[in-house]
Amino acid sequence: MSSHPVSSHPLWGGRFSSAPDEVAARFSASVESDSRLAAEDIDGSLAHARMLAKQGVISGEDLAAIECGFTELRSEIEADAFKWDPAHEDVHLNLERALTARIGDAGKRLHTARSRNDQVATDMRLWSRKAVTRLTSELLALVEVVLDRVRQDGEHLLPAYTHLQRAQPVRLGHHLLAWVAMWLRDADRLLDARERLNFSPLGAGALATTTFPIDRAHTAAALGFRAPMWNSLDAVSSRDFLLELLGSLSILQVHLSRVAEELVLWSSQEFAFVEMSDAFATGSSMMPQKKNPDMAELIRGKSSVAPAAFLQVAMMLKALPLTYNRDMQEDKDPVFRAFDTSLDSLIVMRGMLASLRFKPSRMSAALRDGFIEATDVADYLAGKGVPFREAHACSGKLVAAAVQAGCTLLDLPLAMYQSVNAAFEADVFESLAAEAMVERRDVLGGPASARVQEALGLAGAELAVLKQRL
Ligand code: ARG
Repeated sequence: MSSHPVSSHPLWGGRFSSAPDEVAARFSASVESDSRLAAEDIDGSLAHARMLAKQGVISGEDLAAIECGFTELRSEIEADAFKWDPAHEDVHLNLERALTARIGDAGKRLHTARSRNDQVATDMRLWSRKAVTRLTSELLALVEVVLDRVRQDGEHLLPAYTHLQRAQPVRLGHHLLAWVAMWLRDADRLLDARERLNFSPLGAGALATTTFPIDRAHTAAALGFRAPMWNSLDAVSSRDFLLELLGSLSILQVHLSRVAEELVLWSSQEFAFVEMSDAFATGSSMMPQKKNPDMAELIRGKSSVAPAAFLQVAMMLKALPLTYNRDMQEDKDPVFRAFDTSLDSLIVMRGMLASLRFKPSRMSAALRDGFIEATDVADYLAGKGVPFREAHACSGKLVAAAVQAGCTLLDLPLAMYQSVNAAFEADVFESLAAEAMVERRDVLGGPASARVQEALGLAGAELAVLKQRL
């Protein structure tokens, strides 16, 4: 009736006659987390406004006012002087309100032919694209540090393990390059995900585009997207790009955690293959002798964050009907948290690896016990024509004899070898020197010095290609 308030709800205008419940307003406000999308939201709005002007939907004066307003708002936000208001729900409404407060009606025209549904999908894709670039460049910087360590310290020998039991000797460079191989794939995966997410939802509107003659290819190109998404329902409702990002981050964090675990082991007194620099270690409040590898432990501990974020977003999405549902607002916190934690872990890992000290004498000492020569004893016989399975059994007998005698394989007399198999000759002992064992593994992908150099070259080439893609 005539006494009915026209617009008593601060956000939704005509349809509403009462103010929002306080708890409901707090429950639905997201600006605390999505204000992080401010730069992307402004970029998207400017692209939209310029397209509207080009299409004659808004005037050139309106566009000029919008551009001017956003320039001011952007610097205010960058200077941390903008006051975000939860009463205006999210980043989109906060910016629109602030713009309108500055420039009046032109600000109110900005939302022509647009919905927050295509707006937020656009913002998240723009943000994710940047996030991948930032994170991958950090990851490649980590790879670079490890490649340097391979060049400096790669020749040292140490045991490689299966089942955490000493297995065969390798060069340190070979082991470090195994980390590099994982991380290069992680970088590749992230950049692949970036390719697939780089399409524009803008212009999909709430879900079914718009009645205005918009040019979606124009906004897509202006924002650096490869093309507009070709189904408007999918454009506003798909978040698989976030799952892919979180999946890639999860795998990266799993890899960081495995390396962190090796560093925890290696810095223990039992291994003592490395010593952390003081800058990346911590003491104990009670035990003055302690130097703990807390940074590695924290990287390991925080590696649950991206997998948990993946699960959170996947569970949030799994039963949502098309198209947009408000549930989707809940994607922000897990995505931001997974990104922040992964980035920090990369930076800490880089500092730790750049500054740790390898202890080659401890590594080579670990080659002495553990019967690490046993495979080579078997290979020695197989090389002399003894069938490998038989050679394996002969070597096993020698290991048993050494266990019994409480000595190493190298301590057993030649006569003992020859009693197990007549094909053994005196040269068996020199063939069991650690250097000799490693250098014989001169196979592509193997630990011989030349192969480590070869792998270093291949890794460097992959790194260069990935850097190009950044
Ligand atoms: N803050 C919302 C989000 O992040 C923006 C989209 C709101 N759309 C809507 N129809 N309520 O998802």
